Amino acid sequence: MPDTRHAAPGGGVVSGSKGRGRPCLQNPVSVLRDARGRGVIAGWLTVPVIDCALILELPTPSAIGGGGWVDFARGLQLHAENQALIYGRQDVGLTPEESWPRYAEPHASIRIFAVRNQDKIVARGYYDLERGAEPTAWLYVDVDPAWRHRGLGSAMAGRLHDIADADGVRKVIVYAPSTTGPGAQVTPTSGSGSLPAGNSEVRFLLGAGYQLEQVRRASALALPKDASSLLAEASLAGGDNYRVHFWMNRTPDPWRSDMAILRQQMGRSAPTAGLDEPEEVWTVQRLIESEVRLSDGTRDFLTAAVEDRATRQLVGFTTLAVPTDKDRPVNQEDTLVLSGHRGHRLGKLLKVANLDHLQRERPGHPVVITFNAEENHHMLAVNDSLGFTSFGHEGAWRLGLT
Ligand SMILES: CC(C)(COP(=O)(O)OP(=O)(O)OC[C@H]1O[C@@H](n2cnc3c(N)ncnc32)[C@H](O)[C@@H]1OP(=O)(O)O)[C@@H](O)C(=O)NCCC(=O)NCCS
Repeated sequence: MPDTRHAAPGGGVVSGSKGRGRPCLQNPVSVLRDARGRGVIAGWLTVPVIDCALILELPTPSAIGGGGWVDFARGLQLHAENQALIYGRQDVGLTPEESWPRYAEPHASIRIFAVRNQDKIVARGYYDLERGAEPTAWLYVDVDPAWRHRGLGSAMAGRLHDIADADGVRKVIVYAPSTTGPGAQVTPTSGSGSLPAGNSEVRFLLGAGYQLEQVRRASALALPKDASSLLAEASLAGGDNYRVHFWMNRTPDPWRSDMAILRQQMGRSAPTAGLDEPEEVWTVQRLIESEVRLSDGTRDFLTAAVEDRATRQLVGFTTLAVPTDKDRPVNQEDTLVLSGHRGHRLGKLLKVANLDHLQRERPGHPVVITFNAEENHHMLAVNDSLGFTSFGHEGAWRLGLT
């Protein structure tokens, strides 16, 4: 009798003797028999080659802790563990609770796929589609380190590329953490920074036909940071022409339309090398909806925004995402100064002022983490002057589909 006792309900990993993690075409029961009709036990870690992997789509839970939450959280756990391996620190990724609002946003179109071995998710695929004039997909593949080099990553990427193709996607983008190091390097089209050609994710993405467009620097600033002297200095630079405003979470009513404009402008202003990501459309309505969705109690969003006194309009902002758990890192979110107001050190003023805001409102967190394009010299110079130090990089990769 075939031994199917260990078959994970609804799918799993099947060991065999040939093939490289092909998606299974058969149903879960029939694939649990090998060529000689014997049952094979899903999840035999000792057998090196995977003949066939069942790739399942996981539902997005409708609430934190709602239906499908356990697998949703397990998949994100795998993603966080992989990030921690690359960066050598545990605190970079978000918790499942902190991540969930982004997945559940009404404007989001995110699908999650998984290969399961019994209770464990051994491979995860992330797929985020933006329809529009030029449909674009962002994707990411994670494989458990104990399950690598068996073709699971390629099978998952193949599945995501097939879906992108069916969706009419012409451009696929991957943001992948990387370590830097010696040896042969791959340089991005932006011309700034490089990644080691031997890294597994670099080999994997080059092998799948991706082009490295941009290298982003990951940096951290240890807290507490006494920002008061820096604040006095930065305030002088802006002179009397500007005034800084602060708020937590929802944008105050009078500033909503200015903030929608700034958010829209953010997509046009940050350096994106050849990524050419589709512009996000921000309206006051979207701003309100997004802020309501993010106010789920897991993180607070502290904003500093600068008003041009002459026009009484906001011309720049910066936001910090602050977890409720004091042991968790603070994440630096978007920072923007409109082009007509650059050169007055408003970028530094905003960042310093918001660090001071953080110390006043939410002291006690260990660190602020930020990611910046290597060619974004102005922002990197501001961060360096505040004391940020680099702990790794992230590659921004692009694949054109025909
Ligand atoms: C990048 C990543 C997804 C690759 O996953 P994987 O399951 O090891 O991928 P594959 O097995 O399909 O391919 C990886 C290598 O194994 C080889 N391989 C595939 N099947 C094999 C088999 N049956 N036997 C031996 N080697 C095999 C591939 O040829 C490839 O070799 P190469 O690096 O020399 O080119 C994985 O390393 C990972 O999760 N990294 C962290 C997350 C990440 O960086 N993701 C970025 C990609 S979106």
